[in-house]
Amino acid sequence: MILIIDFGSQTTHLISRRLRELGAKSIIIEPEEALKKINHSSCKGIILSGGPGSVYQKDDPTIDKKIFDVGIPVLGICYGQQLIAQLLGGEVIPGKRKEYGPAELKIIKPSTLLLSTPETFSVWMSHGDEVVTLPLGFEISAKTLTIPCAAIACEKRKIYGVQFHPEVIHTQFGEQILKNFLTICNISIKKQTIDQEFVNNLIADIKDSIKDGIAISALSGGVDSSISSLLVHKAIGKNLTSIYIDSGLMRLNETASLRKTFKEHYHMNVKIVNAKNIFLKNLKGVTDPERKRKIIGKTFIQVFEKEAKKVGAKYFIQGTIYPDVIESGASRSPSEALAKGDAGKHSQKIKSHHNVGGLPKNMKLTLVEPLRAFYKDEVRIIGNVLNLPEEINLRQPFPGPGLAIRIIGEVTEKKLKILKKADAIISQEIEKEKLTNKLWQAFAVFTGIKTTGVRGDNRVYGETIAIRVIDAKDAMSAHWARLPYDLIDKISTRIVNEVREVNRVVYDITNKPPATMEWE
Ligand code: XMP
Repeated sequence: MILIIDFGSQTTHLISRRLRELGAKSIIIEPEEALKKINHSSCKGIILSGGPGSVYQKDDPTIDKKIFDVGIPVLGICYGQQLIAQLLGGEVIPGKRKEYGPAELKIIKPSTLLLSTPETFSVWMSHGDEVVTLPLGFEISAKTLTIPCAAIACEKRKIYGVQFHPEVIHTQFGEQILKNFLTICNISIKKQTIDQEFVNNLIADIKDSIKDGIAISALSGGVDSSISSLLVHKAIGKNLTSIYIDSGLMRLNETASLRKTFKEHYHMNVKIVNAKNIFLKNLKGVTDPERKRKIIGKTFIQVFEKEAKKVGAKYFIQGTIYPDVIESGASRSPSEALAKGDAGKHSQKIKSHHNVGGLPKNMKLTLVEPLRAFYKDEVRIIGNVLNLPEEINLRQPFPGPGLAIRIIGEVTEKKLKILKKADAIISQEIEKEKLTNKLWQAFAVFTGIKTTGVRGDNRVYGETIAIRVIDAKDAMSAHWARLPYDLIDKISTRIVNEVREVNRVVYDITNKPPATMEWE
């Protein structure tokens, strides 16, 4: 197995997932446990993860350099590469130019780690510091336009470093590089798949943990909550009541289409609760994004608890998926289908995803999260196995806190109305071009910025809507989508013509990182 030492990167768990896909076992551990674990386990390779720290800062995490002497291959990623350089006698400094997002890698001297990759390819970066002097015995394997040491190697000691993130889907040949490392570690590669048997086991696990208990599920109409509800429905049948809370923060016509799909098509036991007023009341005057998320999470749970009492439920099913867990800096529960360790104490909290961060400590229901161990694309494979129709399975994700985190500033009924109309126009135009399923997300943001315009010779002072369209394979990294100009133009023209309050439309051209997909 591979030991992944976590220095707090948002993508540490992605490393473990990629290894799992290649059939290799791994565990994620804290730096302090490393030496003990290496000596007491069947460890065949060590990966040092990335992290938000700087290796030259006294209080930032480090590792006992004896790990380099035990004769086990080591791969350092980002912060991990910098640690290798610093601990073995090289030098790391704050970079003059920081790199976030794509960079072109150029191989200078091919190492075993970079076998079967072309001379140049695109990699994903997220760093401010850089290695400037190599330790003795190391050579530079590749550079980028910005940094000279983008990949380093000491073949004799089987120690390798890369400044970029091979685990991120946007790094070309990332899988090849991880395969190469497994080969260096003498681990054979066997790709794993999510198939009928895998899903049957998942359903059997749910049945085992709920038995004859009564459960409610939180159904939002999104992929995650639909598939988790469906899995539980298959496990316990009519003992599940799926509750859809109409918070008023949903997209246009969301409630009607959900009713049609789940009640009429799937004959599931769905209860629709109108809670618009209580959400708006609790959000009154609130502008801070984290407070909004917490309030929404809390309100959801309060409404659920009330409904659960009516049904006599003991279990609460949520569609939390793994990136929600990581970005909230929370831990995985040990009972998960695929236990992969903890989110780690060195990682930083980016956002409180309401599914995780807002849960009250004294919640009276037992939480069941069937998808907590999976990434979005894995969830969709489960959906395929369950024969979920494409229009749901390939649906774009929609955040739990809904449109509230797409309205900058206070959430009001008036702003919601404007945003819903603009958002529907984006969805319609994207769908007309048959792009919906090809994009991760396409939505409108109410920016809260008023600007001057002119309409029929009159001066107007109106709202600005931002269009956010994202190309991604998982929630961890993303490109802004290169929509055709004519399509952007059509969307913009329709918004300013059909939504009277809006007189300016802008297009968001930021990748993740450094921006997140949602504006709040
Ligand atoms: P960010 O903005 O973190 O979004 O780059 C990544 C993906 O997660 C969705 N998202 C959420 N989903 N609860 C959710 O269920 C949340 O609080 C939440 N915040 C963001 C977002 O829409 C994107 O697809």
